[in-house]
This record gives sequence, C-alpha cells and structure tokens, in this order.
Amino acid sequence: MKIGTVKEIKTHEYRVGLTPSCVKSYVSRGHRVMVETGAGISAGFEDEDYTAAGGILADRETIFRESEMIVKVKEPVPEEYGYLRKGQIIYTYLHLAASRELTDTLLGKKVKAVAYETIETADGSLPCLKPMSEIAGRLAVQEGAKYLEKTYGGRGVLLGGVPGVERGKVAIIGGGVVGTNACKIAVGMGAEVTILDINAKRLEYLDDIFSTRITTLYNTDYNLEKVLSQSDLVIGAVLLPGAKAPQIIKRGHLKLMKRGAVIVDVAVDQGGCVETTRPTTHEDPVFVVDNVVHYCVANMPGAVALSSTRALTSTTLPYGLLIAEAGIEEACRKSPALLKGLNIYDGTCVYPAVAQAFNLSYTPPERLLF
Ligand SMILES: NC(=O)c1ccc[n+]([C@@H]2O[C@H](COP(=O)([O-])OP(=O)(O)OC[C@H]3O[C@@H](n4cnc5c(N)ncnc54)[C@H](O)[C@@H]3O)[C@@H](O)[C@H]2O)c1
Repeated sequence: MKIGTVKEIKTHEYRVGLTPSCVKSYVSRGHRVMVETGAGISAGFEDEDYTAAGGILADRETIFRESEMIVKVKEPVPEEYGYLRKGQIIYTYLHLAASRELTDTLLGKKVKAVAYETIETADGSLPCLKPMSEIAGRLAVQEGAKYLEKTYGGRGVLLGGVPGVERGKVAIIGGGVVGTNACKIAVGMGAEVTILDINAKRLEYLDDIFSTRITTLYNTDYNLEKVLSQSDLVIGAVLLPGAKAPQIIKRGHLKLMKRGAVIVDVAVDQGGCVETTRPTTHEDPVFVVDNVVHYCVANMPGAVALSSTRALTSTTLPYGLLIAEAGIEEACRKSPALLKGLNIYDGTCVYPAVAQAFNLSYTPPERLLF
C-alpha cells in the first residue's frame, strides 16, 4: 500500500503520525511510505532518520495525491480539506461528535475514515486513546499547578503545601485513564485528592490502588457542589465513548468555587464537561469566567511531543499495518476492534454516536463490509 504522513498544522501540534521506526515496519513488509519533509522535526525525528528507515521525502500535495492511506495525529483542519479524495483512508484522531463541519466534509469527500479514539477491544478499552489519556492526565496536574500560581491568574496555592500550611485540594471528575493518571501526579505532589465517578467498579478500583491517600465519591449533585466549593484545582476527565461529553459543571457552579481556582477540562476534545468550556490552544491556553481560570487545550499531549509520539505510534502501528496488509475492508472484517474505529465509509456515517450527535442517518458498518 502507498502510505503517507504529513506535518501537523494544527496550532502547537508537534506530534507526527509515523516515527522512523514505524516507517521501517511498513517498508520491511513491502509498503511504500512518503513523509512530508520536516514532518517529524518538532517531535525529535530528522528527515534523514526517515530516509534511513526507507521512507521517501515528499511535499504535502504529492503525499495527499498519491497515498492510499494518510496516517496523521489530529483531525484534518480546513486547510487540508481540499486534499482529501474519494476512497482515501484517513487514519487519525477525529473526534467527529464534536464537529459537524468535519463530519460533513468527510462524508462529502467519501473518504474511509478510521478514528483512533473509537478503536475498541472486546473488554471495552480504547487502546489508541489510552496512551494520550495517560499523558493528558499527568499533564493536567502539571498545567493546573502552574495556573494556580498568582502570576498566571490563579489563587496562589502550592498543591503540596509546606509544613504548617494546608495542602492544595484537587477534584478529579471521571476516574478513568485520565483521572487515574492525574491522581497519581496530584498525590505525588502532595495534594489532597477527591475523585468523583458514577461507576462503582471504578471507584472500588481507585480506592484499592490509592487506598487512604484519596477520597472517592459518587458524582451526585450534592457531592459535586460540595467538592467544587472546596477545590483549588478541578480536572474534568469524563468520557462517554465517541459521544459528546456530558456537561457536568454548569455555569452556576462557578459561583460556588473559590476566586482564582483552576479548571483543567481535559474532556474539551469531546466538547468539554464544563458549560463554560471553549477549546483553547497551547499558544493561548486559558481564559477566566466568573473568577475561575479555565484551561481547555484540546491537544494537550502535543506539548510533550517526543513522549507522546512514541506512546501514540506504538499503539496505532499494529492496526495501521493490518490495514496496509489487508486493505481497510478485510482488516475490519478480521479485527472487530478496528471495525469499531471506522466512523465514515464512502459517504456514510457508520459510527452510531456520531450519527446521533448530528441526527444523521446511520448504517452499521457490518452491512457495508460483510
Ligand atoms: N485534551 C486532550 O488533549 C485529551 C487527551 C486525551 C484524552 N482526552 C479526553 O479526556 C477524556 C477522558 O478520557 P479517558 O481516557 O480517561 O476516558 P475513560 O473512559 O478511561 O474514563 C472516563 C471516566 O468518566 C466516567 N464518567 C462518565 N460519565 C461520568 C459522569 N457523569 N460523572 C463522573 N464520571 C463520569 C466513566 O465512568 C469513566 O470512569 C475524554 O473526553 C478524552 O477524549 C483529552
């Protein structure tokens, strides 16, 4: 198969879809890989590393024109829409439920779009979302701690406290992969941590691994309001797979919060779990509403591009190789996990939560591929 990867052009996105090591894996199996000149530099990979691995350097236009499969990191941005063509496989994060415009574009272009974030194994886990969630969770506390500093508009609270001074309070809403990783770092920094979730099994698990070092709570209206009123840093980490995030923190809740408290809404890439969230960039990451600092960067892992690219590509490569070997249709028939990743196929929406988000007609992918 002819495969191509291009330089990401979303603001402050430094990751790249293929590392030189991935290129080598494709090339050694007889595939042809084109890499946009300079695509990996910000992630720490030189052009020569790609050519040494068997890749061919080319310009963006050539890559989109000649590749049967484009491997990216972020969803295509408007500057890239014009390059997409019928039948082309787009293998990347898509987060379609958060963007009607992108969904309509991919449908109109009749591409075959696989979203990393909805590839789902039999036990319900999301292997290509997990490494980025691990990174975003850990970064959420690092960034939150920074914006709690007075010069960045925060309350001026040190999460770990010092002898004789109370520790900072961190609330984490959603105790999945992001929440657990945020918890590890917050506990490590010495903060007082409370995790809210609606899944009893998850709360049980967190209580087991963190034991008495954290408090776990069911996310009820009462508990949420109480925790919000006491917290210095709130991390939004909920997920309904493939769907728009539920708005858990309403605008009215902000009035309960302390002046200069910080919300890091990691779920912003799925629309956000805070009513006042709007996506921000690494260039201009925060804004203030009702005296509460909001950090809502949609591509947080881009800030640590080298770690993120290595973590991401190690999970996307096996599915990418399967697509390259068998073609998208046969690959989806062979791998139920990959089939779940298919969101758009030849002008049809084949992922239920995306169809539901925009009232589009939905066709089960099995009907088209089996
Ligand atoms: N901004 C970024 O750069 C970035 C990076 C990675 C992941 N994310 C996003 O972070 C979010 C969390 O991802 P994850 O991998 O941790 O998901 P996950 O499925 O592992 O965890 C989500 C958790 O939310 C809980 N939950 C669902 N509804 C809830 C509710 N009403 N109240 C409390 N908890 C609730 C679930 O029970 C689950 O434990 C997703 O929206 C994901 O897209 C963003």
